[in-house]
Amino acid sequence: MTETAIDAQLPVPFLDLRGIHDEVADGILADIAALIQSGAFTNGPAVGEFEEAFADYCDASYCVGVASGLDALRLALIAADLQSGDRVIVPAHTFIATFEAVTQAGGVPVPVDVLEADYNLDPAATADAIDDRTRFVVPVHLYGQLADMRGLADVAARHDVALIEDAAQAHGARRDGHGPGTGLATAFSFYPGKNLGAMGDAGALVTDDGKLAQTVRALREHGQTSKYRHERQPDLHRGSLPRPAAPRRTVRASRLRAWQLPGRGGPG
Ligand SMILES: Cc1ncc(COP(=O)(O)O)c(C=O)c1O
Repeated sequence: MTETAIDAQLPVPFLDLRGIHDEVADGILADIAALIQSGAFTNGPAVGEFEEAFADYCDASYCVGVASGLDALRLALIAADLQSGDRVIVPAHTFIATFEAVTQAGGVPVPVDVLEADYNLDPAATADAIDDRTRFVVPVHLYGQLADMRGLADVAARHDVALIEDAAQAHGARRDGHGPGTGLATAFSFYPGKNLGAMGDAGALVTDDGKLAQTVRALREHGQTSKYRHERQPDLHRGSLPRPAAPRRTVRASRLRAWQLPGRGGPG
C-alpha cells in the first residue's frame, strides 16, 4: 500500500462559499441596493419574482417562499390538513429537521428504513409500516439523489396517503427523467450551504395544488387571506420559531443563483 504524504499545515476550509459568491457578487450587491431603495423587504416583488422563477425551474404551478426548509415542510403538512396525532412516515436516515417538521405540525413521525442503494426511503418497508393512522409519507431526497418516487407513489396511491417531499438537498436532481415534485408538495431549503444557498435562512415549497399554495401564503402572513382579513389561526407560531415571513434579501440573492442553475441561463 502506498502512502500519500499529507501536508499537515495545509489549511482545508470545512466550507468556503466565497468561490460561488465571487461569481455573482456584483449582481447581488446591485440587487440588494435596489431592494433597499424599494423598501419592499417582506414578500415584495423580489420574492414574487423568485417564486415565479423557482416554480418554473421545478416545473411546478406554484412556489411559496418561506423562512426555511423546516418551515416549508411544516407548513406543507399543516396546509395539507395534518391533524394532531396523525402518523407520518419519514426515513430513519435523514437530517433531524424532517422529524421536527412533523412534530411541530402536531404529527407523529414513524421512522422507516432506507435502501442501501440510494440511502432513501424503501418503498416496500414504507408499505409495511402504513396503518390506519398514517396520513402522510415524507420521502427525503438525501445527498442530491431522488428517492424511488415511482415505487413510493404506487404505495401512496394503494394506501390512500399523501406524499410530501423533503427536497432540502435535491435542487435540480433527476431520476427516471423527473425532478422532485411527484407528491402533493415539495419543500426546499436555501440554507447557505445548500445547492441553492441564500444569504441566511430561507426556504420554499412548490406544488401544483392551488389551494395548498394559497393556504401556505395565508399561514406565512398571520392567517391573512386578504388585507386585514385573518381567516386562519396562526397555528404556525407555536414554539419559538420566527415568523415565516418570506425571506428578504436572502431570497433575492438566491434568485440570482437559481438563474445560474443548468437550463435557466440568466446573469452570471
Ligand atoms: C434533509 C433536510 N431537511 C430539512 C432541512 C431543513 O432546512 P433548513 O435548515 O432550511 O430549515 C435540511 C437542512 O439541512 C435538510 O438537510
